[in-house]
Amino acid sequence: MTTRIIPVDDFDLVIFGATGDLSQRKLLPALFHRDEQGQLPDGACIIGTSRKAMSHEEFRTFAAEAIAPHIAASNTPDAVVQRFLARLRYYAAEATRDDGWISLEQELADRKDVIRVFYLAVGPDLFGAICARLGQHGLVTEKSRLVVEKPLGKSGTSANAVNDAIGKVFAEPSIYRIDHYLGKETVQNLMALRFANLLFEPLWNHKYVDHVQITVGETLGVEGRAGYYDTAGALRDMVQNHMLQLLCLTAMEPPSCLSADAVRDEKLKVLKSLKPMTAERLESHIVRGQYRAGAAASGPVPGYLEELGNDTSETETFVALKAELRSWRWNGTPFYLRTGKRLPSRVSEIVVQFRAIPHNVFEASAGPPQPNRLVIRLQPNEGVKLDLMIKDPGPGGMRLQQVPVDMTFKEVFNVRNPDAYERLLMDVVRGNQTLFMRRDEVDAAWAWIDPILEHWKAAHDMPKPYTAGTWGPASAIALIERDGRTWHDEGHA
Ligand code: BG6
Repeated sequence: MTTRIIPVDDFDLVIFGATGDLSQRKLLPALFHRDEQGQLPDGACIIGTSRKAMSHEEFRTFAAEAIAPHIAASNTPDAVVQRFLARLRYYAAEATRDDGWISLEQELADRKDVIRVFYLAVGPDLFGAICARLGQHGLVTEKSRLVVEKPLGKSGTSANAVNDAIGKVFAEPSIYRIDHYLGKETVQNLMALRFANLLFEPLWNHKYVDHVQITVGETLGVEGRAGYYDTAGALRDMVQNHMLQLLCLTAMEPPSCLSADAVRDEKLKVLKSLKPMTAERLESHIVRGQYRAGAAASGPVPGYLEELGNDTSETETFVALKAELRSWRWNGTPFYLRTGKRLPSRVSEIVVQFRAIPHNVFEASAGPPQPNRLVIRLQPNEGVKLDLMIKDPGPGGMRLQQVPVDMTFKEVFNVRNPDAYERLLMDVVRGNQTLFMRRDEVDAAWAWIDPILEHWKAAHDMPKPYTAGTWGPASAIALIERDGRTWHDEGHA
């Protein structure tokens, strides 16, 4: 299989927070890969800014280190690496001071007609101040776009304040709120699977689907991000955005087309149809956990509190919940969501568990027919698996067996799986907002999450401990087993 590369138009991409972790781990490597694949035109320019004083050359050295592991992996010719590094410039600029902004203004002065992207890879407390500066310095042109990273606030109210601040300078059609899960190949594949096949859609409802499970498990702890993570927790960090977006794409009605608003209108309806988590439902519908010392594949690991160096934190590192939708399509079909740090394996998947057949024509000796199950593996080992019942081959009468039809994309396509940021950055340049969150989606997600946070706070609900390297607290297992169902842990360590 070959990949089709469509070059984008000339652009200036200004990264605020260019010397930070996101830029180093994701943005620079993603841009490099797009360049390597021939997608960046000669007129593509990447301008780093941050508070740190640095020359253009020093920034190029920083970028060279960031992309080094990627070069090693793909054996890129040096000329291609040099071409990428030559695109880079750097200006030190502070949101709160005038220094540096004039240089940035001069750098961009004669390229007013070129697409201009401002990427804020900094904390949300700086979003408003940076946008105000961009406005004051006349840097926002007709072709300008703003990209913001989560977390967009810690609650609906603070998200609103951030959105208001950036909205003073940029209109909604030029704001790109990144949820990097939407850029993952397999997440986009969900749309292909649902809307490019006739097979699933007629069954995609409460009559045929018993329940859906969405799991995003991570083996890592909070690593160097404890400072941020402790103010967020798993509900804000993963559920409010990534997990709810996955739920939306799984549950939404088919949009009339793939235009940004058609897709986002449908996702918004899903968010608005979520049954509110009232205080009474909280106990049976949501479990929060925090990891204690245990074992990872690499050996013994400390607990969250030790990693944090603070033994009073009440932040959850794990959440499992049962979400229900108030809709004709999904009434009576729960969506179980589960995510956490220091779980036994790194796995993101959506499991659609179909109902049992209505009548069994087989004799008891055939064994009970198992309901069909569709597993969409988002990462790692990206692919799709459909569990079917078939006859055990050979003589001996009719014996039934559940066998998977299993497709691993790597085997089928044999191409590198691009990182989510590669797709998303090019979509920003192309001006396609389909895979970015609209303001009303963010508001609706917070409207569902806020009451949960408030109830936890009011009830002094402490996270339940779980041993690192296990699938969360026992009550997370009880949450689904009470309903006569089990978590899909098959094939996970
Ligand atoms: C980020 C969260 O948005 O997503 C992290 O802030 C989390 O805590 C990460 O580790 C997971 O992303 P991925 O792409 O590694 O699954």
